[in-house]
Amino acid sequence: MPQRPIRRIGVMTAGGDCPGLNATIRAVAKTAIYRYGLEVVGIEDGFLGLIEGRCRPLGARDVSGILTRGGTILGSNNRANPARQFVGTDAEGNPRHEDLRPRCVETVERHGLDALVVIGGDGTMSAASRLIECGINVIGIPKTIDNDLVGSEITIGFLTAVATATEAIDKLHSTAESHHRVMVCEVMGRNAGWIAATAGVASGSDVILIPELPFRWNSICEFIEARRRHGPGFAIVVVAEGARPKDGEPVVAQVDVQSADPIRLGGIGAVVAHEIAARTGLETRTTVLGHVQRGGAPIAADRVLATNFGFWTVTALMDGARNRLIVRQRQTYTDVDLLHAAGRQRTIPLGDPILDAARAVGTSLGAPLEIPAGDRPPSVIC
Ligand code: F6P
Repeated sequence: MPQRPIRRIGVMTAGGDCPGLNATIRAVAKTAIYRYGLEVVGIEDGFLGLIEGRCRPLGARDVSGILTRGGTILGSNNRANPARQFVGTDAEGNPRHEDLRPRCVETVERHGLDALVVIGGDGTMSAASRLIECGINVIGIPKTIDNDLVGSEITIGFLTAVATATEAIDKLHSTAESHHRVMVCEVMGRNAGWIAATAGVASGSDVILIPELPFRWNSICEFIEARRRHGPGFAIVVVAEGARPKDGEPVVAQVDVQSADPIRLGGIGAVVAHEIAARTGLETRTTVLGHVQRGGAPIAADRVLATNFGFWTVTALMDGARNRLIVRQRQTYTDVDLLHAAGRQRTIPLGDPILDAARAVGTSLGAPLEIPAGDRPPSVIC
């Protein structure tokens, strides 16, 4: 089928926000306008705005001055899912869903959009892939502080979240030392422990607990007690929100039936602190970093990453890309089939060098690490 020429593109941010979204919007819009003379339309609040037809033109001046700003000028929404949108509850209180993709197609046609640039994580790409079935040309850009999108070695927002978490853990260090306490810091990461592992290594944390490696209480407590016997009387434990004990379950904070992604995790930090105190008799405290990790200005590395992703996206589109996810692999930008990456998460392989490096410098991962043979891919984080 002949491709229609690209003259006007839509851009939207969907799912949970992160630092670097505005830098990405800016790069997409400026590349499209300056280099290719395209028109750009911003869709408000992610898929919700697409369903409701809420769009506005984005000129170069609209995206000027936003490179350094956190959040997204377009707004975002992580409840909407066009193919299965929550529309209310039935008489028994069960959620009702409808396929509202025809309304998205209507928005795309009314605004004459030749392609839709969707900046999002795995859930967003999964929802976006269902729009492809309706004939919309979707180009994805990977963003999420969790760094867990299949196909890309890095996602926009991750490095800033790591910087934020590292700074916070550094601050916990000094107060932990003064009071000879065990400080437990809970960071985001439901299925992938990239933030915990990376900020844990960056801050020199003593124990790092990730969802990929279920921990053992004995292993953590013996490590902390030995550390206390032989050296410093304090310890720092960084735990991903999705971490769980062997034979245990992740701690669920809330179930949001209106959301396409209903499970909210949270609370494992308090559980870990309580158990360490009970088993060792040491004084413990918990800090939950929560959405602080998603806020604020992007660090320089994320601004550059966002600018490269935005530029590559429009370039790929003009080179004929259809239904692709723009990714970075071994420091090079390329694109993969969006359908292949949609809804799949990139967790930390147990053979990843970051885990090995953590152990080499004396950090406990809360369980023995049995590295599967051959599972030793290069992780490119920094
Ligand atoms: O996907 C990114 C993420 O930050 C997760 O790590 C976290 O569990 C989730 O979003 C929280 O999302 P929200 O509070 O916006 O529903």
